[in-house]
Amino acid sequence: MNATFLTRLRRELDERRAATGLRRDLVVSGAQGPTLGVDGETLVNLASNDYLGLAGEPEVVESARRALRDMGLGVAAGRVLSGTRAVHARLEAAIAELVGTEDAVLYGSCFDANLGVFNALLGPDDAVVSDALNHASLIDGIRLAQARRLVYAHADLDDLERHLAACADARHRLIVTDGVFSMDGDVAALPRLRDLARRHDAALMVDDSHATGVLGATGAGTAEHFGLDGRVDVLTGTLGKALGGAAGGFAAGPREVVETLRQVSRPYIFTNAMAPPLAAAALTAIRIARGRPELRERLAANTAWLRAALRDLGYEVLPGEHPIIPVMLRGGSPARDVAAALRREGVLAFALAHPVVPAGEERIRLQVSASHTAEQLERAAGAFGRARAVLAAG
Ligand SMILES: Cc1ncc(COP(=O)(O)O)c(C=O)c1O
Repeated sequence: MNATFLTRLRRELDERRAATGLRRDLVVSGAQGPTLGVDGETLVNLASNDYLGLAGEPEVVESARRALRDMGLGVAAGRVLSGTRAVHARLEAAIAELVGTEDAVLYGSCFDANLGVFNALLGPDDAVVSDALNHASLIDGIRLAQARRLVYAHADLDDLERHLAACADARHRLIVTDGVFSMDGDVAALPRLRDLARRHDAALMVDDSHATGVLGATGAGTAEHFGLDGRVDVLTGTLGKALGGAAGGFAAGPREVVETLRQVSRPYIFTNAMAPPLAAAALTAIRIARGRPELRERLAANTAWLRAALRDLGYEVLPGEHPIIPVMLRGGSPARDVAAALRREGVLAFALAHPVVPAGEERIRLQVSASHTAEQLERAAGAFGRARAVLAAG
């Protein structure tokens, strides 16, 4: 690489280091679980998306082991070549059944699904109307589409309606929202979004990555949480969070939508098929997620307990019921200082600072799991209590 290229990258890295510091990925030892091994210590893990605790569920791990023995590790081919195994089709059927759609198609990740949906379904005569706080993968997927792009202020349905009116001449309008927003843990107002979609003859797409398996009586997600009969039009989600936590994503919806994705969606066609052990593990995770509602009950109880404990300690916790708990520590460095104090007490939680969240909205984001024990949550609350001393000193 020529010297000017490298010099520019070095300069930009220096600027980034000076402005926000460079991120260094934490190296964890051992398996995912309610505690994690870091630098020889065992930390209470409040920084994963393993909402139902299925990543460490022996049945899930055992099904991957069996698939590894029977089918090997990988298939060295795309789905459209020789990469499709029966377990892929079984998993797609199980996903469709879980989320209540006619069909579903697998991707390597939900990031891939979101990259692949818009370009496949929409053309230059169409319009996408997207929530301002949608996940990065939706933003990038929309950028790849030829359709007109409109962005409405987060959760502001009046603003959404204005944008829908502005693209009334489009052939199709597609409203896009996260089901649960990953920074605030707030749930999209799907009943009102669906009414608005119907009134404006628009379709509704939801990325339910933080809701599939988590929300609703059977874990179907945000629509079920609101008791909506009939689901959303297009739904994307991940197998990398509540549904076993390994890897994989999907898009689900009416048969015509899913068949179109199979035919033309580039991140489905031009990539390797999901490794069979991952598909087998996800299939088992879905069976458990549907069949054991007590996991969602325990998750809800754990979440409610920790939210209440933090409020009792005097912390500002954004309201909600989702296991994403944003603890607001606004301005300057308090969020980072508190995260460091928690870490010294054996609790792993990350501070989110500007530019990841807007200046003045710095926070520690906690993620609760059904697998956390009462003792682990009490340890976390105790550490937050003692971290107040850090705040008082600051
Ligand atoms: C809302 C949302 N969509 C998509 C993704 C990407 O999921 P995956 O890890 O399967 O690519 C994430 C994960 O960070 C997410 O939070």
